[in-house]
Amino acid sequence: MKGTERAEQELKALEASALPAIDGASDPEALEQIRIRILGRKGELTEILRGVGALPPEIRREVGQQANALKARIEAALEARQQALRAALLDELAVREAIDITLPGRPIQRGSLHPITATLYEIVEIFQRLGFSVAEGPEVELDYYNFEALNIPKDHPARDMQDTFYITDDVVLRTHTSPVQIRVMEAQPPPVKIVAPGRVYRRDADPTHSPMFHQVEGLLVDYGVSFADLKATLQAFVDEFFGAGTHLRFRPSYFPFTEPSAEVDIGCVMCTGAGCRVCKGSGYLEILGAGMVDPEVFRVVGYDPEITGFAFGMGVERIAMLRYGIDDIRLFFENDLRFLQQFPAL
Ligand code: DAH
Repeated sequence: MKGTERAEQELKALEASALPAIDGASDPEALEQIRIRILGRKGELTEILRGVGALPPEIRREVGQQANALKARIEAALEARQQALRAALLDELAVREAIDITLPGRPIQRGSLHPITATLYEIVEIFQRLGFSVAEGPEVELDYYNFEALNIPKDHPARDMQDTFYITDDVVLRTHTSPVQIRVMEAQPPPVKIVAPGRVYRRDADPTHSPMFHQVEGLLVDYGVSFADLKATLQAFVDEFFGAGTHLRFRPSYFPFTEPSAEVDIGCVMCTGAGCRVCKGSGYLEILGAGMVDPEVFRVVGYDPEITGFAFGMGVERIAMLRYGIDDIRLFFENDLRFLQQFPAL
C-alpha cells in the first residue's frame, strides 16, 4: 500500500525532527514556537491530520490512528519539556534569590538612659524607698523663691550677677532646687517628706562647672526632727548609692536657710581615704550641703514655730563624676556617642 507508506514516512520524518527539537528547546518561548510549528493552526501535523479525510478509505483509518498517536506523543513530549524548563527556572531562582537565613542580623543600635538621667533616677529611687515623695518646681523662678524666702539677703554673694542668670529684676533661672522647699511648704501643712530633682543654672563654665546642671533637694519637716535623723538618712542614702559602710563626714558650714549647716563628704571612692588626685590628697569628696531648716524659713511659710526639719541638696553631675571617675563635667553635655555608650547598662 503505497499511500500508507508515504504517510507513515511523512509521520516518521516529522517525529524524527520534532522530538529532538522539543527536547532541545532551551526556554518556554522556543518551546512554544515549536508547538505552533507542529500543532498550530497551520502546523505540520495539523496539516497531515487535516489531509486524512481526503485519503482513500482503505488507508484513512490506519494513517489517522498513526497521526493521532504521534500527536499524543508530541503533546506528551511538549508537556514533559515544559515541566522540565519550569523546574529548571525554579531551581535557578532558588539559587539566585536565595536568602541566607544563617547570616547574623545587622545589629540594632539600642538607646540607653543618659548617665545623668540614670544617676538622677537612682538617687530619687533610693529616697522613695525611704518614704520620700517627689516634688517639682519651675526652672524659671521668682527671685522671691530662689533667694528671698530662703533667707538669702539682697547683699548675699550668691545673688551676684556673676552667678545668677537674671531674666528680669524679679525673675531668674533657679540657681538651686531649694526654692521647691518653699513652694511645697506653702502648698501643704507638715509633715513634709520630699525630694525635688531638677535642672539648675549658674553663670559658670569650666571642667567642673556647667551653666546647666542637676540637683536633688531633700526636705523633711515634722515635730522632733533632729540632726541625728539627718545623719541617719544621709548614711542610708550613701550606703545604698556608694556601697554599704561608706564613710560620711560632716563639716560645719553656712547656708542662709539652715542652722546649723554642714557640708557632707564621703570617704574618697577612688582611694578609699588614702589620698589621691581625685580627692586632692584629702581622702574625702564633698557630695552635698545640708542642715536643720532655719526657723526663719518656717516663719516665712507660716509654719508653727515649734516645727523642726532637715534639708539637703546634692549635685547630680558631681556625684556621677565621682562614681564613674569622670574628670570633666562637659563630657556629659557634648553627647558624643563614644562617651555615652560606655554607660549601656544604666
Ligand atoms: N542649695 C544649696 C546649693 O545649691 C545646697 C543646699 C545646702 C541645699 C544646704 C539644702 C541645704 O537644702 O540644706 O549649693
